[in-house]
Parts: sequence; structure tokens; C-alpha cells
Amino acid sequence: MSMFAAARLPSEILFGKGQRHALPAVAAKYGRRAFVCTDERFAATSHFAEILAGLHNAAIDTLVFDRTLPDVPRDSVAACIAQAKNFKPDMVIGIGGGSCLDMAKCAALLLSHGGRLEDYYGEFKVPGPTLPVIAVPTTAGTGSEVTPVAVISDPDRTLKVGIASPHLIAVVALCDPDLTATCPPFLTAIAGADALTHAIEAFTAGSRGADPHLPQQHVFIGKSALTDHFALLAIRLLGRSLEKAYRDGSDEAARADVMMGALAAGCAFGTAGTAAAHAVQYPVGALTHTPHGLGVATMLPYVMTYNLPAATAEIAEVGTALGLSHQEGDAGALAHATIREVSRLFGAIGITPTLAELGLPEDKIDWTAEQALGIDRLIKNNPRPFDLAAMRRLVRAAYDGDISATMM
Ligand SMILES: NC(=O)c1ccc[n+]([C@@H]2O[C@H](COP(=O)([O-])OP(=O)(O)OC[C@H]3O[C@@H](n4cnc5c(N)ncnc54)[C@H](O)[C@@H]3O)[C@@H](O)[C@H]2O)c1
Ligand SMILES: [Fe+2]
Repeated sequence: MSMFAAARLPSEILFGKGQRHALPAVAAKYGRRAFVCTDERFAATSHFAEILAGLHNAAIDTLVFDRTLPDVPRDSVAACIAQAKNFKPDMVIGIGGGSCLDMAKCAALLLSHGGRLEDYYGEFKVPGPTLPVIAVPTTAGTGSEVTPVAVISDPDRTLKVGIASPHLIAVVALCDPDLTATCPPFLTAIAGADALTHAIEAFTAGSRGADPHLPQQHVFIGKSALTDHFALLAIRLLGRSLEKAYRDGSDEAARADVMMGALAAGCAFGTAGTAAAHAVQYPVGALTHTPHGLGVATMLPYVMTYNLPAATAEIAEVGTALGLSHQEGDAGALAHATIREVSRLFGAIGITPTLAELGLPEDKIDWTAEQALGIDRLIKNNPRPFDLAAMRRLVRAAYDGDISATMM
């Protein structure tokens, strides 16, 4: 097959300890009026006071919205932009976890194009560029600082919804691992496990070929040479440091690895997309109200096992990136060892091992399978195809904790 690659990324990605101090100079390139989206937690920190003072010293006027809620409820976005309209910002700065970054993207979208959030659900519905967004993450997980997606919870929909468009990519991603130092162990674990799932699903995604229409019609287009590069970097960094950062949140080197891993995973899945572990999490999350990162990580070893026949070589390569060694030519054994290692790592950081323990009601297994199968953009990215029977088997196996049942 001929070489194919695609990547859509911010204009500028800055990463490193202390990079938050670059924000005033970065923002000054985009104007003099910044609408800042954050949440009550971060707004109360000394980091935030310092950041605002830095912007003011650079003669940038700010208006702060500090009521972002986890998972971005739809109507909270309307409240957010109502506050900003008269301010007429030149840019939107999102500072916080994935929810604050997604809120900033939604605010930029509605301030630029009007209408209701619902008008933009799905792929390629955003008609043109938005106000520039500067994304400053304080968790190491979602990759939202570099991805073309905002995820919202809509009270009229059972599953969370996404707005996916290259126009939603932040113009600058500014990543300072010091901002993640306060993440408690459980948040470090679920955000980091989400990132590892992004990287592995992007790396094992189907390869959809070089059709020139594909990237013009779809946001998530399968694995390619460039996304693979980012995915392997993410897997290496998360493999060596996620457990360390979970056990000792003051380990700066581990924090930096995990944040860089989440960033690189975002660079991979923002173009390649994710697959079945994410598809199953959507209905599971809706029923159990458990965090996104926890649900995708619970599913990942089962999905990798289901995918083994279609992606043995890729899963073995994941194992090499995780630091496993193997006998030359024995990709099958290495692939199995890789899945065991992912399960071990997730167990060590407190990821729930089964859907039953996550709280999924047993009588919702079929419904979960039907809903997951309906999320076409994720299912078509999976290297091994699904029909309803196969999806039911996968969900049942993950419910029972019977990994071998996914091999059929
Ligand atoms: N846009 C994307 O590409 C993308 C990808 C994956 C997930 N998501 C979405 O992102 C959201 C999840 O984001 P998240 O996991 O970053 O969590 P979050 O933003 O929802 O925050 C969760 C909690 O952690 C707190 N928090 C954040 N940073 C902290 C820190 N440094 N120290 C202590 N507490 C901190 C927040 O205040 C909040 O209470 C979900 O809505 C998910 O669907 C988006
Ligand atoms: Fe995710």
C-alpha cells in the first residue's frame, strides 16, 4: 500500500515546565481582549491569579467565566456566551481540564457563528473559522488542547454528543506540567488511562487508505504514518510513567511524561480517531454516570483481545513501546503479553476491571451493545468489524470479566 498520512494540529504547541508564563506573549499575538473559560476550582488558585496578572501586565483585558461544569452541560454554554457577548473578545482562553477546554471551544464557536449548539452536532457542521482558542490544560488526559472536538452533555440526548470540525482546533496548545501537580491520584489515573486508550485505539485503528475525499468529508480518518508516530510516543511515555505519577503526584518527571503522553495521544487520535472502547463507553457512561476515562479503560483490554486477529502486529508493536521484549518473529505471543500488561497497568492504578463493577445493570447489556454499534464514526474505525452479535459478545465478556470470550 502506498504511504498515506494526515494530521490536523494547532498552529503552535508549547510544552514544558513554566510554559504558562508564555501566555501573555502568546495571547498578545491574537488581540487585546481575552474571554477566559475556567472552573471554580482553578479560578481560586494562585496559578490563576498569576496568569490573570500576567495578561493584565501585557495590556490584555480579560473577562472570566469560572462556572464551567464537568462534562459541559449544553445549557451552561448558553449562560457562558451570554456573559461574553457585550465584551466582544478577540480570543477565548480555556484553562482547566477537558471540560474547560471544550467550553472554550463551544464559546468560540457560538460567539463566531451564532445559532444553537445543537446546530453543530456531528462532523463538519462548523461553517468556518472561529475566534482563536488558546488551550491551557490542567489535566493530562483528554488531549482536547489539540483535537478538533468538543464533547457536550445534552439533556435531550441519552448519550453525550460531539461537535467535530477542524475549525475547533485550538490555535495554540500551551501545556505546563506544573498545572497538573494538584491532580489527585484517581483523576491522574482516569485521565491518563483515557490518554493511553486514545493512543492504542488510534494506533490499532483501521487503515482507510489514501482516498482524497476521505479527509474532506470526515474528521476521524483512521491510522496513518503521522498519527502512528504520535501514538507510539504517547504509549512509550504513558507506559513508563503513568503508574509513577499515580503513586507519587509530586514526581515532576513522571508528571511531564504523562502530560506529554496525553498531548501526543491527542495529536494521534485527533486525526486517526478512536474505536470500540470509546463506542461502548458512551452508553455505559450514560447509564452508570462513571467518568469517561474509567469506562474506556475498563473496555480497552477486551477490545484489544477482540481485535487481535485483525491487528496482531500493531498490538505487538504497542507492547514493544510499553517496554516488553520478545523473541524475534513471535508477534502473537507478544500481542497477548501486551494485553496482559495493559490490564496489569490499569489494575495497578485502580481502573475497574469489569462493566459489572462499573455498575452496568445486567439487563442493559443488549441495549449497550446496540447503542455502541450505532456510533458509526467509532465503529468503522475499529480494525475488526462488528455485527450486533459480536458487539453483544464483547459487552457481555467485559461485564463478566471473561476476556477469553472476546476471542471468538
Ligand atoms: N475534546 C476532546 O477531544 C475530548 C477528549 C476526551 C474527553 N473529553 C471530555 O473532557 C471531559 C473530561 O475532562 P477531564 O478528564 O480533563 O476532567 P474535567 O475537566 O471534567 O475535570 C474533572 C474535575 O477535575 C478537576 N481538575 C481539573 N484539573 C485539576 C487539577 N490540576 N487539580 C485538581 N483538580 C483538577 C476539575 O475542577 C473537575 O472538578 C469530558 O467531558 C470528556 O467527555 C474531550
Ligand atoms: Fe477518550
